[in-house]
Amino acid sequence: MIKQAIIPLAGQGTRLLPLTSVFAKELLPINGKPGVEYILDECIEAGIKEVIFIISKKKIMIKNYFYNDAFFKKIISSKKDKRIKSEYKKILKYKKMIKFVYQNSPLGTGDAALKTQKFIKDKYFLMLLPDDLIIKKNCSKDMISVHKINKASVMASMLVKRNNVSRWGIYKLSKKINKNNYKISDVIEKPSIKKAPSNQAVIGRYILPKTIFNEIKKLKPGKGQEIHITDAIRSLIKKNSKFIAHKFKGKYLDCGTMSGYINSSKEIAKL
Ligand code: G1P
Repeated sequence: MIKQAIIPLAGQGTRLLPLTSVFAKELLPINGKPGVEYILDECIEAGIKEVIFIISKKKIMIKNYFYNDAFFKKIISSKKDKRIKSEYKKILKYKKMIKFVYQNSPLGTGDAALKTQKFIKDKYFLMLLPDDLIIKKNCSKDMISVHKINKASVMASMLVKRNNVSRWGIYKLSKKINKNNYKISDVIEKPSIKKAPSNQAVIGRYILPKTIFNEIKKLKPGKGQEIHITDAIRSLIKKNSKFIAHKFKGKYLDCGTMSGYINSSKEIAKL
């Protein structure tokens, strides 16, 4: 069973400036709800019981958001507002399941994941990148089913335009398992068009084995001088660890760029 999820939240959000100069991008509202709450709701619905947030000192506002009990209690005691009461209840539910760890320098997704090592209990865990919202169908839940059936690691996959491959991690697919699931024989972080083995991109949902931590420790900085989870996955695949690319059914919203962020509210409002 997959019961724990980790969420890297220490990124600086430069692609969303000026909105992120004093504000955490994951708390920015998307159709009236902070982006990170969509991610938490996806986790809860997928059966996750504990979520580890990797934040930095600069992003302490994320912790404060979930720990503002005194403020809520004061308001609730003076105003008998049902909506505020139920919002506070929701925050308390989230707070109960979140643990915080710190990554004070933004050294990449692999480095962020490594910070959670001592808290991971089971053989496999889920990692979600909060810039990537997937609506209409719970991607994590579907990936957990694929993991259970195949007893393998699973990552979300989406077809992208050839001229855009250098924006993503790109898969080399081998055996077709069924319509939506393929065995991966390699994955490359942000390759050039020439070097890209396909147009299938990594989207930010990963079911990873605990053994990934040892691979991360061996990595040298890769693209952009960061330690990428993609490179650690690559090392595991080379050691015959089974990874599956899952073509998810929901709709992908890229909340990490300004145009994508603006569009995400519009798309969610249509639901
Ligand atoms: C990260 C990963 C990349 C993946 C992407 C999905 O990149 O490194 O492999 O394709 O998320 O959103 P980033 O968006 O942090 O540049």
